[in-house]
Amino acid sequence: MKIRAAVLEEFGKPLNVTELDLAEPRAGEVLVRLAACGVCHTDMYTASGADPTGYAPTVLGHEGAGFVERVGEGVTSVAPGDLVVTLFSPQCRECIHCQSTETNLCLAIREQQNLGYLPDGTARLSRDGEPIRHFMGCSTFAEYTVMPEIALAKVPRETPPDRACLFACGLSTGLGAALNTARVRPGSTCVVFGAGMVGLGAVAGCRLSGAERVICVDLSPDRLELARGQGATETWIADEHTVARVIEETGGFGADYTFEATGLVAVMRQAVEAARMGWGLCTIAGVAGRGETLDVIPRWLITGRRICGSSFGGVKGRDQVPELVGLYLDGRLDVDAFISHRIGLDDVNRGFELMENQDGIRSVIEL
Ligand SMILES: NC(=O)c1ccc[n+]([C@@H]2O[C@H](COP(=O)([O-])OP(=O)(O)OC[C@H]3O[C@@H](n4cnc5c(N)ncnc54)[C@H](O)[C@@H]3O)[C@@H](O)[C@H]2O)c1
Ligand SMILES: [Zn+2]
Ligand SMILES: [Zn+2]
Repeated sequence: MKIRAAVLEEFGKPLNVTELDLAEPRAGEVLVRLAACGVCHTDMYTASGADPTGYAPTVLGHEGAGFVERVGEGVTSVAPGDLVVTLFSPQCRECIHCQSTETNLCLAIREQQNLGYLPDGTARLSRDGEPIRHFMGCSTFAEYTVMPEIALAKVPRETPPDRACLFACGLSTGLGAALNTARVRPGSTCVVFGAGMVGLGAVAGCRLSGAERVICVDLSPDRLELARGQGATETWIADEHTVARVIEETGGFGADYTFEATGLVAVMRQAVEAARMGWGLCTIAGVAGRGETLDVIPRWLITGRRICGSSFGGVKGRDQVPELVGLYLDGRLDVDAFISHRIGLDDVNRGFELMENQDGIRSVIEL
């Protein structure tokens, strides 16, 4: 079939919204008619050419929500008409990682996905007979996409797709960092560094866990205002005294849980140092630049601080994204506040500009 999609033709150039061919879903695959898609930093990062693993041409986009149109042979978990959220982090339910409760890093299709292909090593996207690679296994800046069944989370049909799509990446990452990775205990003190989509999700996750104090630190007063809305009990403008202030305000010890959601290694270090001696846990969600390293004084660790990383918030997508969406449907999570702009597919490059100017949290493409 013919579809319209936003193609990254060349690194550093605006995306080209154009017509492509999309082949029918094969065994284990699903054709999804996209309804909404968030514009995320990872899309812009890849478009810029800074990502060493990036490739072009490809159709970008990975924060999608849409309706199942047709299914390939053997697909049983979704059916035409279902509302699904796309998962760049799939869940096959069979591999050694899926069977463990310790991780969400499904091993089933990693290799081909990283190369830009569906699990059988081929692409469904093409133009004039030339294959076009898929991005993060999703390619959701498009009217339709074909994805593996194991990379789709079925969510309640009454969920508005423009809200549902936000659970495909940053929001679930932040929520999951607090709920799954750190497993924040009620009554604790948390510090969240960064109030973008990921940090705001972490703030909400801390609140939902029953944390007593949730301190959010960012450079932007506007973003800190949003953090208040997600349940931050204190908001601080970031500066070089943040660590000292956390320690001072926690009886000289530090916070029970800290979260890093900026991608800056200097902030990661602050998050480690602001964690409490004895049991403080620092969860790192930010993605640092290529080749950057985290500088930590070993004594901070010997005296009981711990550091862990979190990919997609440790969320096992098919099982847990519907649960997180349920928090929204039950009125326990304010998702509407994250949508700052609604744009059409043709305005995708404007979505990048808005993000570059830190204008709002998320632009959502409505299809
Ligand atoms: N682990 C994962 O699976 C995963 C998923 C999505 C995104 N990410 C990463 O998470 C990070 C955050 O993503 P986002 O979409 O929320 O980004 P964002 O750019 O919207 O938010 C980052 C925030 O950090 C703030 N900041 C900058 N310097 C700071 C400082 N010194 N102290 C405190 N705050 C500071 C900025 O003002 C901004 O509000 C990125 O590195 C992104 O790549 C990781
Ligand atoms: Zn993303
Ligand atoms: Zn798996």
